[in-house]
Amino acid sequence: MTKSVLSFRDVSLTYPARLHERKAAARTVLSGIDLDIASGEFVSVIGRSGSGKTSLLNLAAGFLTPSAGTITVDGIAVTGPGADRAVVFQDDALYPWLTARDNIAFPLKLKGIATTERRRRADALLQLVGLADAGDRHIWELSGGMRQRVGIARALAAEPRFLLLDEPLGALDAMTRSRMQAFLLTIQAASGTGALLITHSIDEALLVGTRVVVLAPDPGRIASEIRAPFSSDLLSGASAADIRASAAFKTLQADLTGLIHSLSSEDAAA
Ligand SMILES: Nc1ncnc2c1ncn2[C@@H]1O[C@H](COP(=O)(O)OP(=O)(O)OP(=O)(O)O)[C@@H](O)[C@H]1O
Ligand SMILES: [Mg+2]
Repeated sequence: MTKSVLSFRDVSLTYPARLHERKAAARTVLSGIDLDIASGEFVSVIGRSGSGKTSLLNLAAGFLTPSAGTITVDGIAVTGPGADRAVVFQDDALYPWLTARDNIAFPLKLKGIATTERRRRADALLQLVGLADAGDRHIWELSGGMRQRVGIARALAAEPRFLLLDEPLGALDAMTRSRMQAFLLTIQAASGTGALLITHSIDEALLVGTRVVVLAPDPGRIASEIRAPFSSDLLSGASAADIRASAAFKTLQADLTGLIHSLSSEDAAA
């Protein structure tokens, strides 16, 4: 795949006043965001609740339009949702009446791809996410972790250039989550996409991100952006436990924890 870049340039977002609410003032939730996500990069975004993470993702997806600044893919302005940017939400939003295979094939149907080809591609994706035997199962016959994998496979079906992930692993138990982190990295490396991952977990952000972006709240701004070197170790087979135990990981984790706390107390003091 050719290299692509998703770019935010001096992006601000103001939600309009809600006239039916008592606090009717317009609200600026993101301000002066400059961010690039290139193919092969895995950018984690952390920040406390309400700092604008989901708003940032919705802008990248094209569900929202910036109030100022520009968002582009390879220099071309994003004007709405597109098959080049796939979104995976925390609650998987799969179609419960369809099988796992038909959920994955659904975007291909929308693209007008013929039935046999859809089936071939959906089966290849099922294989990729480790669900080769589960294609005929309905969504309600799958565990939460399996559903998330179907959701990710469906997102990959349209062969997006960018994967936009809003806390996709938040509802999973620790062990499944850890497995899914390694899985996400493998998929992203294999597909060559650029990924934007929103998470509440500093640990997760550091483990899978090639970069970690910290949002400061009110209005959401990029307070810090650090390079994280651990995902390549995880990809080449190092255990997450060993990585977490390393001095380098502990140092960055302490730095990020301190930073997020200082941003919150700054806010509380205001
Ligand atoms: N459609 C909307 N209209 C008005 N305000 C909104 C809208 N969506 C979000 N907001 C406000 O924008 C701010 C940022 O919200 P956002 O959902 O982006 O935060 P977040 O960082 O994703 O939070 P969380 O970690 O809780 O998911 C919040 O104060 C929220 O109330
Ligand atoms: Mg959110």
